[in-house]
Amino acid sequence: MNQQIQLILDYFQQQEQLSADEKNALIKALKKVKSDLEIAEFKLERTEKVKRTTAILLDETIQELELKRKAVEETNAALQQSMEELKAAQAQLIQSEKMASLGELTAGIAHEIQNPLNFVNNFSDVTLELIGEMVEEVDKGNTEEVKAIARDVQQNMEKILHHGKRAGEIVKGMLQHSRTSSGQKELTDINALADEYLRLAYHGLRAKDKAFNATLHTEYDENAGKVNVIPQDIGRVILNLITNAFYTVNERKRLKEEGYEPVVTVSTSRISDHIEIKVKDNGMGIPKKVLDKIFQPFFTTKPTGHGTGLGLSLSYDIVKAHGGELSVHSDHGEGTVFIVSIPTNHQ
Ligand SMILES: Nc1ncnc2c1ncn2[C@@H]1O[C@H](COP(=O)(O)OP(=O)(O)OP(=O)(O)O)[C@@H](O)[C@H]1O
Ligand SMILES: [Mg+2]
Repeated sequence: MNQQIQLILDYFQQQEQLSADEKNALIKALKKVKSDLEIAEFKLERTEKVKRTTAILLDETIQELELKRKAVEETNAALQQSMEELKAAQAQLIQSEKMASLGELTAGIAHEIQNPLNFVNNFSDVTLELIGEMVEEVDKGNTEEVKAIARDVQQNMEKILHHGKRAGEIVKGMLQHSRTSSGQKELTDINALADEYLRLAYHGLRAKDKAFNATLHTEYDENAGKVNVIPQDIGRVILNLITNAFYTVNERKRLKEEGYEPVVTVSTSRISDHIEIKVKDNGMGIPKKVLDKIFQPFFTTKPTGHGTGLGLSLSYDIVKAHGGELSVHSDHGEGTVFIVSIPTNHQ
């Protein structure tokens, strides 16, 4: 560029028809153009430099972002993995708690099955004798007598069938209880459910500890009716609460307080669109600082090996899953009441 300007300058110098003033004016103007060009060139170069630095910076930032994105992706994958591990651990815990409470139930179930089995055995014995008599009467040709005995045999067979079915129901309930997948909701007679699990819990404890005894009170609301629940789940809640109640009255009984009578009361009541199941005991009560923790998983005050501390936390989850509430009132030294409240219109 400078060279070309120089050429123009030389050209002007050689023009004889131009005056010295004109030549000077033209040379000045050209020098101005030259310096403007130099400045423009310098600015252009600076802009180029800035552009190059910005591009480098941008590149670095993109690389950094990419690294961060990868790190976030890795963290996400790790989180997902831990979530899955946690879920698996939780499912396993729930299953082991189920098995533990199945253990609690076994003694009760054995007792419950023993009753219908006794009936089946006794009625079968009697019926066998009756059939012997019937054969004799047939030989004698006493048609009327044969008919009467046949009617007795028929009645006995009906009873055998009834008690056999009852034993079957108990076994079915036991199998449902140990199943991993959660059951289906069905219209359930709450009073019958409460009574069934109360008896299972009671006989279970009696079987383990012959010295154990407690007065059982039941106050069932005739209008409790049927509620849409998963029966074996609500049954577990009732079982957990009653087992806790029996445990605490038993503890207090051991203190040999003058005139102490252990009492556990199970009651139901229908209150507008809710059903309430209350389990009340006159046991040790729960101290304030313990009360805050009882629904936490693994919290237990029982000696090592005696409780998992999962009873109440699982019960809480089950009641919540039914859209209900599990609340507690306790006076330390006086006893405790747990209230299960379930909406009757929950789908
Ligand atoms: N009726 C009650 N009276 C006094 N304390 C209770 C009562 N119910 C629960 N608790 C307290 O709450 C704690 C937690 O109860 P939870 O049923 O969750 O576990 P656990 O009974 O200790 O163990 P598990 O149910 O596995 O046998 C108990 O250890 C006890 O301290
Ligand atoms: Mg418990």
